[in-house]
Amino acid sequence: MKKLYLHLNANEQASLFIDEIKQSIEKAVATNACVSDVSGDSSLQVDGTQISCLSDATLLGSYGDRLVYVVGDESTAALKDAAAKASALIHKHGHEAFLNSEYASFISDGDALIGFDDGMAGMSLLLQAKMKPLVIDFEQVSYRQRLLRGGRQKEPLARAVMNGIEDGALVFDATAGLGRESMILAHAKAQVLSFERQLPIWIILKDALMRASKSRFFPFTLPKLQTIGTIASYVGEAPEVIYYDPMFPEREKSAVVKKDMFLFRQVIGEDKDIEDFIRIALRLATKRVVVKRPSTAEPVSAVDIQRAYFVDGGQCRFDCYKP
Ligand SMILES: C[S@@+](CC[C@H](N)C(=O)[O-])C[C@H]1O[C@@H](n2cnc3c(N)ncnc32)[C@H](O)[C@@H]1O
Repeated sequence: MKKLYLHLNANEQASLFIDEIKQSIEKAVATNACVSDVSGDSSLQVDGTQISCLSDATLLGSYGDRLVYVVGDESTAALKDAAAKASALIHKHGHEAFLNSEYASFISDGDALIGFDDGMAGMSLLLQAKMKPLVIDFEQVSYRQRLLRGGRQKEPLARAVMNGIEDGALVFDATAGLGRESMILAHAKAQVLSFERQLPIWIILKDALMRASKSRFFPFTLPKLQTIGTIASYVGEAPEVIYYDPMFPEREKSAVVKKDMFLFRQVIGEDKDIEDFIRIALRLATKRVVVKRPSTAEPVSAVDIQRAYFVDGGQCRFDCYKP
């Protein structure tokens, strides 16, 4: 099982949503009891020296395919240390070398550590062996410029989703991820509810949206992130449009994947239930379901899933389906 370590202790903001995290975990455990062996090896010997020991880690529970721990300063330092050393090993001798090393018994592929790091805008996702932290910062200039340049007419996403839809209409972003497109839709005046089922991503997005709500740069109604989960468990007013941008399985393993997408894939893997979710979306949405695809890829189709039309987005395409 992959592990998620949360280093939240000292932060007031994080404590605001630790309860929500706990609730989600409890809900997941109640519906899908699978708290497995948590003993594991918590120490690591390298060259005869013990470099790491998770002395102050507390298991919160399991969520999806992860064990979730809250860690204190000592464990965080140990994890960072091991990750940095693993990263150096990978850099020098490749990933195989890491997998055969003692580090791999301590931190495995896809484990994640979330915390507040000096100099970072907010909570960041620190991954083993790829130590460039992943933080969502909507205030970044490049991001804000894109938002300003875009708008309802110019952004293909906004055109695909908002065409013929009134300001303030309820729109779901079923796959919030790093929240960029939720923000574009909110900026185009949709009332956006965002869904994300991967706990590490949900946490950093929740933190980013909290920061955005205090920023002077976003004078529009921000997307509202739902509790961790999917549109399948939504009850309430039906949305007019559902936007769906899942992680499609890689078609060619050798394809050069963008760096942030690589990190992303390491944490969340691939979404293997795409047709199921398009069906759920088609039952929920009143006007349309918009699915993002690379411009060279075939549209998703099945007997009951037929594309009505599409909006060209340059490198990507927005396929529109009617309920
Ligand atoms: C390709 S990314 C989305 C990127 C996003 N559009 C953005 O602007 O950053 C897909 C994300 O959706 C999440 N996801 C995939 N299927 C989901 C589902 N059925 N319900 C909730 N989240 C889902 C994945 O965990 C992942 O974070």
